[in-house]
Amino acid sequence: MQNLSPQLATIIDDLSENGYAICDAFLSAETITALADKATKLYLAGAMTAAKTGQHTKLSNANIRGDSIFWLSETSEKTSVQAYFSKMHLLRNALNLHLFMNVQELETHLAVYPIGSVYEKHLDQFSQGEGVQARQLSSILYLNQDWQADDGGALRLRLTERDFIDIAPTAGKLVLFLSHDFWHEVMAAKADRISLAGWFRTSI
Ligand code: OGA
Ligand code: MN
Repeated sequence: MQNLSPQLATIIDDLSENGYAICDAFLSAETITALADKATKLYLAGAMTAAKTGQHTKLSNANIRGDSIFWLSETSEKTSVQAYFSKMHLLRNALNLHLFMNVQELETHLAVYPIGSVYEKHLDQFSQGEGVQARQLSSILYLNQDWQADDGGALRLRLTERDFIDIAPTAGKLVLFLSHDFWHEVMAAKADRISLAGWFRTSI
């Protein structure tokens, strides 16, 4: 594929073949560390809010979803946030050019799952109404340095009703999947678990 880095070319191939892709070292270790620090600071300062489930519910229910989140803005002046958005824009161009996805906006939040918390099995695609910006592609970038094999906290991605893969949330790993197609859940962890989730949307 012309003008694509080997990393983005592999992502595009995997998405077109399987509907999902897993990519290690998506951003530099320096950027990942800076994003992790930002999330930790916001969390400790009490600046994150309890995540909600579903499009129309104003309720948070920690049994279903236990993370705290902070929405990021593309206008942030933080170098690490800019590095994230500029790489995601390269990815977006590749999605539109090579997979004809027609995605435009990217909504994105940092998330901290405290020890033991989960996000039960769900789809990221909300019910659609006229003018709703539909989520097309889900992305999660993990920010957990020194994550141990027995720390848990996997993203359980369901490939069929019976089959799933468990993906460890190790620092620098980006997971992408088609939002309509993949049920998934976050398993409980023995350590606080930090991630940066993003959704590419299109107008429908
Ligand atoms: C989500 C989600 C998965 C993860 O925020 O919708 O499924 O691994 N996150 O953090
Ligand atoms: Mn999800």
